[in-house]
Formats: sequence, structure tokens, C-alpha cells
Amino acid sequence: MSNVHVFDHPLIQHKLSILRDERTSVKEFRELISEIAMLMCYEATRDLPLEDVEVQTPVAMAHCRQIAGKKLAIVPILRAGLGMVDGMVTMMPNVKVGHIGLFRDPETLEPVKYYFKMPADIAERDVIIVDPMLATGGSAAAAVTFLKEAGAQHIKLMSVIGAPEGVEAMQKAHPDVDIFVAAVDEHLNDHGYIVPGLGDAGDRIFGTK
Ligand code: PRP
Ligand code: URA
Repeated sequence: MSNVHVFDHPLIQHKLSILRDERTSVKEFRELISEIAMLMCYEATRDLPLEDVEVQTPVAMAHCRQIAGKKLAIVPILRAGLGMVDGMVTMMPNVKVGHIGLFRDPETLEPVKYYFKMPADIAERDVIIVDPMLATGGSAAAAVTFLKEAGAQHIKLMSVIGAPEGVEAMQKAHPDVDIFVAAVDEHLNDHGYIVPGLGDAGDRIFGTK
């Protein structure tokens, strides 16, 4: 079974409470989702390997550690995943970014792929998929399948809110993928929306409703 990490850090929980609020403006929503991604990135990259380096300070030689040139890629699921990219790139300025375009068919709730563009060496990279909402899990599971078909072997999923149904579906489909979320909510409603959730993440980021 994949590990599910729920971030209960006070800063994340505080920002998440404002993110959920229906009165939060598009501007604030964008800022918050980016900040939450930045904070989650800090924990989700905890296992990056380090190497010893010597650094000459103005006073003496310091024995330090730097990230050991690990090849990493961030892969947002369009559209809403785009809202999490800035925060991740702020933390890791040289990270490569691939894009997967998926939308849920409103009738069947099945994911429909319309775009897939990865760094050429994606098979050699560790991947963190970002998408704020893990609802039925269909989109995230499909994204992982496409990435595995492209050769990626080490994949993590970072979402802001998960539904129990989505977490379970992901664990079933891809038990090797660790899942990072800020909250696991109550359930899905009849339209596949997370309850209480935050509504339609894409619409709230891009102001399309
Ligand atoms: C939302 C969200 C996820 C997906 C989650 O995207 O950003 O990608 O739904 O639902 P699932 O777990 O049931 O697959 P949506 O399909 O609304 O597309 P959009 O981001 O383009 O609005
Ligand atoms: N996609 C969203 O944007 N919100 C949900 O609650 C479920 C899927």
C-alpha cells in the first residue's frame, strides 16, 4: 500500500481554511494555493539525497551538505495543477516541468486526456504530480499510468484535498505511489465533488465561473 501523508502543519491548515471559504477572491485563492504547494514541497522532498561539500566561509572551511544532483520533474495536471507549480518552482528553481492535460467527463467522471508533454529524459527523473483535488482518483491514476508508460519509475502525488474514495482508488491502482495531502475530507457528492472540499479548483484559480 502506498503511504498517505497528511500535512497537519498549522500554517498549511490555516491557509487551507481560507482557501475553502467561498468568499475568497481569485487573487487570494491563487496566492494561497501557491503558498500551500510551497509548504508541502518542503515535506514532500524530505527524502532527496544529499552529498557532502566543503564551503569556504569568510571565517573558515564549513562542512556542508547539498542536494546530490537528483533529477526531478514536477508534473501538473491541467488545469488546476498549474496553480501549484509556482510554489514548487520557487523552492526548486531548476526543476523541469512536464504537463498532462486531463479533464473529467461530467457524465461518466472518467478522465479524458488532451495533452502530454514531458522533459525528454522523464524516464530518468523522479516525478511529483501536482493537482489540488484528488476526488474519484481517476485523473491522478490515469496521470500515473501515462507517466509509467513514458518510463517514469519513482512517482509521488501531491494534492491539497483528497476524498477517501480517491485515496483508496489510487492505493489500489498504484500502490507504489506516495500520496501527500493537506486534508482528507468526508466523501464525494453525487457529482463527484469533494465534500466539504473547496468547489471546482480550476474555476477558482482561473476565475472561469
Ligand atoms: C479536477 C481536478 C482534478 C480532477 C479530480 O479537474 O483538478 O484534475 O478534477 O477529479 P478526479 O479525482 O475525480 O479525477 P477537472 O476535471 O475539473 O479539470 P480542470 O482542472 O480543467 O477544471
Ligand atoms: N475537481 C474539483 O475541482 N473539485 C472537486 O471537488 C472534485 C473534482
